[in-house]
Amino acid sequence: MSTFFLTTAIDYANGDPHVGHAYEKIGADAIARYRRLRGDDVHFLIGMDEHGQKVEQTAAQQGVTPQALVDVLADTFCTMWTRLGISYDQFIRTTDPMHREGVRALIERIFDRSPDDFYEQAYEGWYCVGCESFKQDSEIVDGKCVLHPTRTLERVQERNWFFRLSRYEDFLRDLLTSRPQFLQPESRRNEMLALIDGGLEDVSASRSRLKWGVPFPKPLSSGEVQTTYVWFDALPNYLTATGFPRGEWADRWPAQLHVVGKDITRFHSIIWPAMLQAAQLPLPERVWGHGFVLLGGERFSKSAGVRLDLDEAIGRFGADAFRYFLLREIPFDADGSFSWERFEERYNADLANAWGNLASRVIAMVERYFDGVVPSGARTQVDDEDAAELRDYHAAMDGTRGFLLHEALRVVWQSVVRGNEYVDRQAPWKLAKDPALRGDLETTLASLIRQLARQAVMLAPFMPNKTQELWRQLGAPGQVSEQRFAALPELDATGWKVAKGDPLFPKEARER
Ligand code: MSP
Repeated sequence: MSTFFLTTAIDYANGDPHVGHAYEKIGADAIARYRRLRGDDVHFLIGMDEHGQKVEQTAAQQGVTPQALVDVLADTFCTMWTRLGISYDQFIRTTDPMHREGVRALIERIFDRSPDDFYEQAYEGWYCVGCESFKQDSEIVDGKCVLHPTRTLERVQERNWFFRLSRYEDFLRDLLTSRPQFLQPESRRNEMLALIDGGLEDVSASRSRLKWGVPFPKPLSSGEVQTTYVWFDALPNYLTATGFPRGEWADRWPAQLHVVGKDITRFHSIIWPAMLQAAQLPLPERVWGHGFVLLGGERFSKSAGVRLDLDEAIGRFGADAFRYFLLREIPFDADGSFSWERFEERYNADLANAWGNLASRVIAMVERYFDGVVPSGARTQVDDEDAAELRDYHAAMDGTRGFLLHEALRVVWQSVVRGNEYVDRQAPWKLAKDPALRGDLETTLASLIRQLARQAVMLAPFMPNKTQELWRQLGAPGQVSEQRFAALPELDATGWKVAKGDPLFPKEARER
């Protein structure tokens, strides 16, 4: 059994979850569920980034302590992830004592293994609290950070601990070129290679004015104990989650996959591997930098007032339809726009009419013509054509061609279209009128039930509840989540007792 440890970014605890956070968690959840269906030993980590100036400032604005703020937000995020069916195995919070201890242990290990990698230096620069990082001139337009134009940049003058990132230029260039899968999609990799070629500057690893964080394990020569810079505290969450430096942490580490947004790919594919290399620890296997969900072509942000209410979006057609829509409409390797019109179109066309209708027609016919008991029937063209495409589905889900979740869904919908065409062509209602054609009727409906069952398994990573409901209506044994892809080619539905239920995707339903 292969182990598959996958992670998402840990979200800043400075506001409620939004559609962008949800998109990433849903995408990673689809990958986690897909891996479980392959039989992998999956460990899916998500969590909260609870330290740093941004959190400190938000708490101050709200007149609460940072701890009180992050406690409330951790609950809010967990409730949201449960509502969305995010099947995480572990939820880490950077305020956990275990994590704090692990961060200090990692930094101490860097001091120990690569003593020259940390040094003290006075520094002056522009700091963006939105990014929680210093900005180069090229990232500043009209005196504002390009990513957070509504925030005011802070002029910071401090003496800090610095990490000698510049030393890792060759190492990182080599990593990205010799292991092309380390960072994908390719567009992100090219961006990072260009960044490295432009020269990497050393980064500050501690902050003086920041109080809300992990004390940096070594005082400055002046004796001042600083706070660990928030990215040096946040990135190690993936490692501290394994229990590092205690116990059996090496059984889990390294992670197989970090799923993060394109805005923070740099931290994951440059700073994080350099830190691990400095500590002489194994690197993660892969980083996937997904794109952004946009609204009307723009990044939504609280500060810029571009809003999309997550509760409302889930409430429109329910959690599974929302998951489907996001992953179908917004390519996992690029940006894409959310629009209510597209959401309604896809809900009606793809879910209610194409797939939901196929399921209800076929189940109803098995009830009508076979008293609900699925007949046996030889393989048909539908089975063969589905089988031929299964490879494309896997290539889009397992990372061979990247994590192209939208592509995997497209492949399944080819099968859905094929099913509907087959029903129309075979016209089982006509076959049923002629006892001499009973055999054809059996073959047709047996094949269609097998197809629906395969579709349920292939779509289970995307729509865990609806596929389980279909699995139940098909009378299939066990739970859809317990199935294995390896068994799909041999799947035989003979003797299952179907039970038609409510439509899977009622037209114009509203979940309230
Ligand atoms: N706390 C850091 C991550 C630390 S990881 C060691 C952070 N937090 S965040 O809350 O700002 O973002 C969390 C994740 O959500 C990031 O991967 C980010 O790219 C993603 N998204 C935020 N807005 C997004 C969209 N509009 N669309 C898609 N993902 C976006 O960064």
